[in-house]
Amino acid sequence: MGIAVVIVMGYRYLKNSVALTRNIISHFVKEGYIVADCTVGNGHDTLLLARMVGKGGRVYGFDIQSVAIDRTQNKLMEHGLEQRVILINSGHENIGKHVEDRLHLAIYNLGYLPGGDKKITTIPDTTLESIAQTLTLLYNNGLLLVTCYTGHEGGEIERQRVEEYLMSLDQKRFNVLRFDFINQRNNPPVLYGVEKL
Ligand SMILES: C[S@@+](CC[C@H](N)C(=O)[O-])C[C@H]1O[C@@H](n2cnc3c(N)ncnc32)[C@H](O)[C@@H]1O
Repeated sequence: MGIAVVIVMGYRYLKNSVALTRNIISHFVKEGYIVADCTVGNGHDTLLLARMVGKGGRVYGFDIQSVAIDRTQNKLMEHGLEQRVILINSGHENIGKHVEDRLHLAIYNLGYLPGGDKKITTIPDTTLESIAQTLTLLYNNGLLLVTCYTGHEGGEIERQRVEEYLMSLDQKRFNVLRFDFINQRNNPPVLYGVEKL
């Protein structure tokens, strides 16, 4: 009987919550999907999503900072993917006003803009308002991913508010998971995954 040898080099499936989020979305998102990046920041996730949804799909991207919207727009243009993305320079708490489609997936990467003003962060009330609207917009079997950073001022309080809210969701309507790197130092981010049933 032959022996299959799998050599894994330099690749970690569970490295951190950014990698984990990307692994999940790369399995979940199909061509033609309609998705939302509710905190576009420097546009890394928006670009990834734009690639995954293909020509027939659509990505909605929100950020309150025009610098984030500009950086993301430039990134998309460099790759010729700007046609698939609707960037909205507004708070994600207004998602219900801007998105008329149902969504297959929505992601949030909470906190401050890397390389930007660290005082401008997501805040619990608007984050929760937005998540509530997004859960309504999701299709059944749609997925919500929320990454909470806890190293900055207010980050841990926001994570607790997000967790309290997600814990209160009816288990008949939502599966809710927490992905927590419990042996990492220095406030590793916590990822929450919600599947709408
Ligand atoms: C951690 S960064 C996102 C990083 C991003 N995923 C990337 O790939 O670079 C968080 C972003 O949320 C934005 N933000 C803060 N409050 C917001 C709100 N109410 N609605 C939408 N975006 C918001 C910030 O301006 C910041 O750019």
